[in-house]
Amino acid sequence: MIANPSVSSQKPIKLDANAAAGRSEELAGILVDAVAGGTSVNFLWPFGLPDARRYWDRVIARIGAGEILLLAIESGGRLVGTVQLIPAPQPNQDHRVDISKLLVLRSARQQGIATVLMQAVEAEARRLGRSLLVLDTETGSAADRLYRRLGYQVLGIMPRHARLPGGELADTTFFFKHLPDASQ
Ligand SMILES: CC(C)(COP(=O)(O)OP(=O)(O)OC[C@H]1O[C@@H](n2cnc3c(N)ncnc32)[C@H](O)[C@@H]1OP(=O)(O)O)[C@@H](O)C(=O)NCCC(=O)NCCS
Repeated sequence: MIANPSVSSQKPIKLDANAAAGRSEELAGILVDAVAGGTSVNFLWPFGLPDARRYWDRVIARIGAGEILLLAIESGGRLVGTVQLIPAPQPNQDHRVDISKLLVLRSARQQGIATVLMQAVEAEARRLGRSLLVLDTETGSAADRLYRRLGYQVLGIMPRHARLPGGELADTTFFFKHLPDASQ
């Protein structure tokens, strides 16, 4: 798959806590858009900007504490996609990172933005010396296809694991990927 050149030429940016706070309205808008689109990202409908702001306030505090690393990508001067890396805090899993909340605005999808973000995630994991990436998503979703295409291996599918925003239970696929040339 070849990403749209206008997007693939955009380099994902890393947002520290101050930068994320300054762009929290854009981040909140991306999250509301994903939930409105029916995506299983932990929240139920109705879900509005105040709910999303509360979520991002907690994330920003964790970015400040060094627990989360936030990547985002801009197009036309506004954020259109974001993803989080959460390095495992356990001393015996210092090679693992969880990937969370890969979100692209519905209006910006199918242009390769998530692919570029995931490439940046892997580069960042390598930079951190983390070789095992772990993530999960709704079975059969666009994200499920994306992760398979990017070489993530299926650990398993848990039936009826999480609710979609409308309340219906859906299956979740759990994935992992070992970075072959990472240091550990
Ligand atoms: C999953 C998600 C992040 C994918 O974002 P995206 O930016 O559209 O992803 P990509 O563009 O890299 O790839 C998506 C599709 O577009 C296609 N594509 C990529 N670039 C393209 C281009 N230039 N022209 C045409 N198609 C293109 C890809 O081949 C892929 O096809 P597929 O759906 O048949 O597998 C997005 O759908 C989303 O935000 N979903 C809701 C949130 C979610 O489920 N997050 C993951 C779990 S937390």
